[in-house]
Amino acid sequence: MNEEKPKLIVDGKRLDGRSFDELRPIKIEAGILKRADGSCYIEMGKNKIVAAVYGPREVHPKHLQDPSKAVIRYRYNMAPFSVEERKRPGPDRRSIEISKVSKEALEPVIMKELFPRSGIDIFVEVLQADAGTRTACLNAASVALIDAGVAMRGIVTAVAVAKVDGQLVLDPMKEEDNYGEADVPFAFLIRSGKIESITLLQMDGRMTAEELKKALELAKKGAMEIYAVQRDAIMRKYRSEEEVE
Ligand code: CDP
Repeated sequence: MNEEKPKLIVDGKRLDGRSFDELRPIKIEAGILKRADGSCYIEMGKNKIVAAVYGPREVHPKHLQDPSKAVIRYRYNMAPFSVEERKRPGPDRRSIEISKVSKEALEPVIMKELFPRSGIDIFVEVLQADAGTRTACLNAASVALIDAGVAMRGIVTAVAVAKVDGQLVLDPMKEEDNYGEADVPFAFLIRSGKIESITLLQMDGRMTAEELKKALELAKKGAMEIYAVQRDAIMRKYRSEEEVE
């Protein structure tokens, strides 16, 4: 990138006025699509994402079936209009990589052994992107899986931490992601309200080992806040279903 790097922290605040450990505003709604078995809409800052889950259902082609457990498929896709410079439709190296690591981030939470020979398909569509889409997509996909009634061991909650102007910040937005020194997306498996394990950890840029430890603590704090919003979205959906019955 040839543009000059702007100052990302001014008077102890970030460019959008947030403090270092503050998430962007987050909004989650479960069950927004009629034709999917489970679905979710999420906004994390300027990111706008829809997740849809189908299954457990029969796998086609049949040779992809696993007689001992369900096969999970995850497709991350960015709409052409989701980014500043129109994105060419269809998969590219980045979206294939994100789909792979995201699938692996969710697999430990899904009770695959309960659904032999079947498939669970997760589609995430990024409608508007502003950094942290892989983590926002995972948050939406988790809620959509629960909405679909897929048996789960817990929930996956994801958030990134960046290093900008030498400072660790939670949930970086586009400018921080573009011009920062490092970006570390995390996903956690949360079970009975507690973080049990890390299911995704990537990093680009440079951090000291000590900073990485601090980044993990900051991400955990953010994840617990996101988890509360995910839970609330699921409760609201169940409550509205009860009202209809
Ligand atoms: O979105 P995430 O941070 O998980 O992944 P990234 O590869 O670090 O991308 C960071 C941001 O760059 C995305 O969220 C988009 O806002 C932007 N981007 C873009 O403008 N055009 C692309 N083709 C891909 C990403």
